[in-house]
Amino acid sequence: MPRLKPYAQIPGSSTQRSTMSFPFADVTNRPLSELLSLRGRRAVVTGAAQGLGKAIASRLAEAGADLLLIDLNADAADSAATELAQRYGVRVLSTRADVADAASVVAAADFAAAELGGIDVWVNNAGIFPNAPVTVMPDEMWDSTFAVNARGVFLGAREAARRMSADGSGGVIVNIISTAGVQVAFPGMAAYVGSKHAALGMTKSLAVDLAPLGIRVLGVAPSFVPTEGNLAAAKAGAEAAAAAGIEMPPLEVMNKSMIGRMGTPDDIARVVLFAASDLSMIMTGSTLMADGGETL
Ligand SMILES: NC(=O)c1ccc[n+]([C@@H]2O[C@H](COP(=O)([O-])OP(=O)(O)OC[C@H]3O[C@@H](n4cnc5c(N)ncnc54)[C@H](O)[C@@H]3O)[C@@H](O)[C@H]2O)c1
Repeated sequence: MPRLKPYAQIPGSSTQRSTMSFPFADVTNRPLSELLSLRGRRAVVTGAAQGLGKAIASRLAEAGADLLLIDLNADAADSAATELAQRYGVRVLSTRADVADAASVVAAADFAAAELGGIDVWVNNAGIFPNAPVTVMPDEMWDSTFAVNARGVFLGAREAARRMSADGSGGVIVNIISTAGVQVAFPGMAAYVGSKHAALGMTKSLAVDLAPLGIRVLGVAPSFVPTEGNLAAAKAGAEAAAAAGIEMPPLEVMNKSMIGRMGTPDDIARVVLFAASDLSMIMTGSTLMADGGETL
């Protein structure tokens, strides 16, 4: 267990925060190529076997980071790791872990710290999006959604921050939220929308706690991006609603994009790369809307 300062001893944890010196470098004079590069950094991406997580891992690898891919699906995470390592010539490891389970997250974070030599970037991407009208939503759907989408973000951030602060080097935590963190785009999403509002609020609070440790925390909020998991969840939700005699609007209502198309996983991954890199050094606590203007 890394040695941590009691909260009260952390500079900035008191009301005098504005007078304290925070350990974020001024990178004004560094060249763009350096600011965008993650060479020498160690990054962890959760839910990285497919969808947005795999696209995010791919851009972080291209930028030079060594990586640990975490997923419930060990085989798919392993093949994603092999593919990215071959394509970008960086170290990419994988491990099976459940982000909703504290012991599992601790083991994965220990593995990253031991095998990669530390953690500089942690992306809380794993998420689930079950859909059911609230009148037929079972308790288990509510609980599991909050376990993955909210507790998973808390556990990932806590374990990342403990290890980032252990050697004093700081780092960046990026939480993949959703436009559901600020609005309701579709019926049947009470659990999901609640959990993503929680994750967005937590992003602000984590930023306040972790700034004195040199750790920035940012959210990235995608709009609807077709992925394996997303399309399956939308279909299952429509079926559950139909079985309950409730008519759901067609999928197209999710596309209110100003850019004339839906987003792709790589559209989101490039925003995450910006957040994870030194280009975004001035930012912490905010959530970047990667939504093609949907929430305007
Ligand atoms: N695709 C979208 O339209 C969209 C929009 C907004 C936000 N998001 C968010 O982006 C993230 C990724 O979404 P996606 O569309 O790529 O989903 P996806 O279902 O395609 O992929 C999610 C991955 O996370 C893994 N995972 C799920 N639960 C896990 C757990 N408990 N522990 C570890 N791994 C777990 C899955 O095995 C899967 O590989 C989620 O947080 C989601 O809420 C997605």
